[in-house]
Amino acid sequence: MTEAFDAVDLIVAKRERRTLPTDGIRWLVDAFTRGVVADEQMAAWAMAVLLNGMDRREIRDLTLAMIDSGERMTFEGLGRPTVDKHSTGGVGDKITLPLAPLVASFGIAVPQLSGRGLGHTGGTLDKLESIAGWRPDLDPAALRAQLADVGAAICAAGGDLAPADKRLYALRDTTGTVESIPLIASSIMSKKIAEGTAALVLDVKFGSGAFMRESAMAEELARTMVALGTDAGVTTVALLTDMSVPLGLTSGNAIEVEESVEVLAGGGPADVRELTLALAAEMLALGGLPDADPAAALDDGRAMDVWRRMIRAQGGDPDAALPVARERHTVVAEADGVLLEQDAMAVGVAAWRLGAGRARQGEAVQHAAGVRLHAKRGDVVRAGQPLATLLTDDPGRLPRGLEAIAGAHVIAPAGTPVPERPLVAARIA
Ligand code: URA
Repeated sequence: MTEAFDAVDLIVAKRERRTLPTDGIRWLVDAFTRGVVADEQMAAWAMAVLLNGMDRREIRDLTLAMIDSGERMTFEGLGRPTVDKHSTGGVGDKITLPLAPLVASFGIAVPQLSGRGLGHTGGTLDKLESIAGWRPDLDPAALRAQLADVGAAICAAGGDLAPADKRLYALRDTTGTVESIPLIASSIMSKKIAEGTAALVLDVKFGSGAFMRESAMAEELARTMVALGTDAGVTTVALLTDMSVPLGLTSGNAIEVEESVEVLAGGGPADVRELTLALAAEMLALGGLPDADPAAALDDGRAMDVWRRMIRAQGGDPDAALPVARERHTVVAEADGVLLEQDAMAVGVAAWRLGAGRARQGEAVQHAAGVRLHAKRGDVVRAGQPLATLLTDDPGRLPRGLEAIAGAHVIAPAGTPVPERPLVAARIA
């Protein structure tokens, strides 16, 4: 077959900062999917994009080409509006767990096609698999039936959604080309648009535990994704949220499920509840319920009822005891004072090294491993007071976990002002 373009021409054009034509981008993605464009060519092109960027039209073309590499799902005819949420990922980010059943308790369908963790950010499916019997796989018919019946489903994304993105993302992971706004935005939005949701709320994080350290970069990513969603007919809103400290008091798998259940019972750490409610309010508004009161549904048990049905529908036992780590080690405060910093990245890396996360795709995770925090940024602490407990099934992992968390906590003399950092920094629509 005669090919319409040459991969080298497209790599060179991007290297020389030229704008690529729509048919060139579509050919590149299609030829990569067919194996005509080699991995090293696609990686070189991704590096050229990382260095030289893409304009809005090019990003839209790339997104649509990746959507067209696979199947498009639809939730039309479900009898409920569908609203989805996506987080760019962070340390202790368990918000999907309480959020999906909470929003579904108002009659909105929440399809959460989720992934597994890689590196220091955890995966929603890894967390839920610590519940005895729970299964991540739902075929499209079962997903639809669960959404019609229970309203919420958190399940594994099938391989048919944007397969070109799947291959490109794996390549980027090993070639230093992840941190590119056009590539991240098109990767996330191709999967979300292919999934067929009518509306989408994005939680775009910035700070040490996030992809984007700088809030200005996170804002650009959020604006790019909102534009992509809007151009594709998916009403999209983004919240920019702080990820410089871990969310809540737990980072791991089973311990994050436990904390999510506390939030569903009307309690839990204030920041986890605050972000759950902020995202729920946006999702409810997009689902046509701007005046709904999500806090009431956490406090009166409606959200918990949907959680229990959602877990049971996928084979899980919501009453089963969660796994408990065999080994624990407590880190204490070295001085009296005020906790000035609690670095999210350090806590995330510690949890990962303790066994809560994986270094390579396909590796098993320990469900009981992780880090439980006993104080939050801004708290007054005393020398000897526990700051964090490291949990693992494998004592050989403790030294590396300890090494990671060693610099996480900064204690300043009592009375030092701790600058306020709002959890939700901005809203982009
Ligand atoms: N998540 C994705 O799905 N893709 C990226 O490129 C980055 C994060």
